[in-house]
Amino acid sequence: MFDSRCIRPQCYCEPQMPQVTTTETGVPIQGPSATLIYDDWYPALRTDVLRGGRLATAMLLGIPLVLGRRKDGRVFAMRDSCPHRGIPLSVGWFDGERVTCRYHGWEFEPCSGQCAVIPSLSSHDHLDATKIYATAYPCEERDGHAWVYVPSAGSGRVAEGAIPRAVPELKKFGPRYRTAFLKADLPCNVDHGIIGLMDPAHGPFVHQAWWWRSRASIREKTKKFEPIPEGFRMSAHAPSGNSAPYKLLGVYGQPVETTIDFVLPNRRTEMIRCGEKWFSSLTTVTPVTASTCRIDVVAAWNVFYHVPFVTPVAKFFGAKFVRQDQVTMMQQAEGLKHNPSLMLIDDADKPAKWYFALKQARLEAASRDSQVSEARPGAPRHPMDGPVELHWRS
Ligand code: FES
Ligand SMILES: [Fe+2]
Repeated sequence: MFDSRCIRPQCYCEPQMPQVTTTETGVPIQGPSATLIYDDWYPALRTDVLRGGRLATAMLLGIPLVLGRRKDGRVFAMRDSCPHRGIPLSVGWFDGERVTCRYHGWEFEPCSGQCAVIPSLSSHDHLDATKIYATAYPCEERDGHAWVYVPSAGSGRVAEGAIPRAVPELKKFGPRYRTAFLKADLPCNVDHGIIGLMDPAHGPFVHQAWWWRSRASIREKTKKFEPIPEGFRMSAHAPSGNSAPYKLLGVYGQPVETTIDFVLPNRRTEMIRCGEKWFSSLTTVTPVTASTCRIDVVAAWNVFYHVPFVTPVAKFFGAKFVRQDQVTMMQQAEGLKHNPSLMLIDDADKPAKWYFALKQARLEAASRDSQVSEARPGAPRHPMDGPVELHWRS
């Protein structure tokens, strides 16, 4: 799919070839699917929907989930499928403590998935209901999201405390801040969602608007990047002076500095600091299925903390911005249906190449680890061997 003809000497990777989902007749039914990264945390849904004993459903990496919140406040995520006959547990009942299946009334403790009651058992039965488990996934609440740890298929129940990866969380730099959240479904696979997210060259074309960019504002950029574990960092720098929101931060009269990280499997964090003032965001592109994904943005800031209407205004412009990406990716999905061959070109696409190389290394390390007895994250090789400067026009 991706033609990675690198003209420069430092070519870091051979990008992974996405596959195509086809019908029996060989006709592509959607854009190509992507290989998925398991054994990590993904945001399933916003937890404000888990009120009053409500069950909610979500799909992560093609796995149907039912989520809820116990009376004690703890959130949970189970596979939305009863282990008895497979009916979705989400059509059953939840009393704040147990999920009851609608078909034969089996009751499950939702955080562990352990069965507590099988109503049909008689005094003649010796079956121990508590030996039966529905599939429950580790689930934690952060920044208003229910984050679910998705283990690789066949790895069995994940013991709490045995998860080697921390639950992702938005960085905040003080106790007083405002927050906003945005999301958009994308009809393309997670790889296209992610390389679209880190693509520096689309800004002047996709995000044309009087308050952001115009095509005429395009100019040469030089940015420094450095390797970080399972990702890369655009080193601290003064943000583009040609973008209106960054200009606004300049009203504080202090130097503005921004740092952008990308870390596997799907996280982009951006921190903008201006003296005591800061803006922080966490953007994730989460595979819903192998060929569709969703972008979620959570942001927190203390800039203009006392100015009224800043949150709705920020949400309005943020939504427009995400919508521009969404519309472009919907148009791209039309093209991808026909499985064209694609290119990753020079420096502007170098972050995309690093992403594919990091992902490939992680998948290879995971497959090595699955062949040794203990499941533990290996130390995947890194495509960068030190800081590097990239140049592009945008
Ligand atoms: S299908 Fe769920 S209890 Fe039988
Ligand atoms: Fe964009």
